[in-house]
Amino acid sequence: MSGLGESNGEGRGGMSTRVRIRTGAAHRSAAVTAASNGHHATPPEAVFDADEVSVLYGGKKALAGVSLRIRRGQITALIGPSGCGKTTFLRSLNRMNDSVPGFKLEGRVLYHGHDMYAGNVDRVEVRRRIGMVFQKPNPFPKSIYDNVAWAPRNLGMKPGLDERVEKALRGAALWDEVKDRLKDSALGLSGGQQQRLCIARAIAIEPDVLLLDEPASALDPIATASIEELMHGLKGRFTIVIVTHNMQQAARVADRTAFFSLDASSGEPAGTLIEFADTETIFGRPADPRTRDYVSGRFG
Ligand SMILES: Nc1ncnc2c1ncn2[C@@H]1O[C@H](COP(=O)(O)OP(=O)(O)OP(=O)(O)O)[C@@H](O)[C@H]1O
Ligand SMILES: [Mg+2]
Repeated sequence: MSGLGESNGEGRGGMSTRVRIRTGAAHRSAAVTAASNGHHATPPEAVFDADEVSVLYGGKKALAGVSLRIRRGQITALIGPSGCGKTTFLRSLNRMNDSVPGFKLEGRVLYHGHDMYAGNVDRVEVRRRIGMVFQKPNPFPKSIYDNVAWAPRNLGMKPGLDERVEKALRGAALWDEVKDRLKDSALGLSGGQQQRLCIARAIAIEPDVLLLDEPASALDPIATASIEELMHGLKGRFTIVIVTHNMQQAARVADRTAFFSLDASSGEPAGTLIEFADTETIFGRPADPRTRDYVSGRFG
């Protein structure tokens, strides 16, 4: 199995040796290589390191100069008013925006110290390692089993497929509800069940990271609670980045919270990162008055 690709590019630490970047041991070896060159390597706990990331759509800036570090094994929440670039930022973490006409990214996104936008990055491998769940559940018109088995089959992970499907459905807190009807269509599930199925589908290949874009926004409080519960269960096994409009949800699930807002100080308004800190700090004693206004409901 290959890593994300090979790089001789200049990482943040100015790595000059060709390194194969993977997660786990290989990413540690990249750090060791960089360190042995006398350079400062990305700390091992950083899964993503966004460095002055700006995004343009057709020349119009949607996101301006975002620098933020996502730590391994944690839940990071992205909050902020509509249109401030949360989805744009999230989708920049697994190159989902690449197919959007006119999309351009400036700055750098490092994944385990490796430039995600380097020319030699294998995009299939990116999707393999960085799973995504969207706001609206989008199960395939297939059976429950085949939805979860789809990605493992595509990646040739056929041995032990039944166990893998069961493990993913258990991980997504859906197993007990569907174990007797695995061959039924996924489209017959409720909205909350479909969303958990999409999470099961994403975790079936055991990615390194799970990106969730408002996964509970269309769900009732009970389904929302079960999604939150499963996030707690997945924490540690996966690094999770979640966009949410629900501040109570961010406060309940996230270790760290990033507040984005629109800023017009350099002309056209563009989304920018206002403050990023421990969740208790963002909700309890934020440093920026704009964060304070937002989390107290005075804005947005
Ligand atoms: N595919 C696209 N083409 C052109 N502009 C886009 C595209 N996607 C997003 N934008 C623009 O980028 C800006 C940020 O949008 P984005 O969807 O990232 O915001 P958001 O914070 O996720 O908002 P919401 O909370 O409403 O989901 C908006 O001005 C939006 O119109
Ligand atoms: Mg959005």
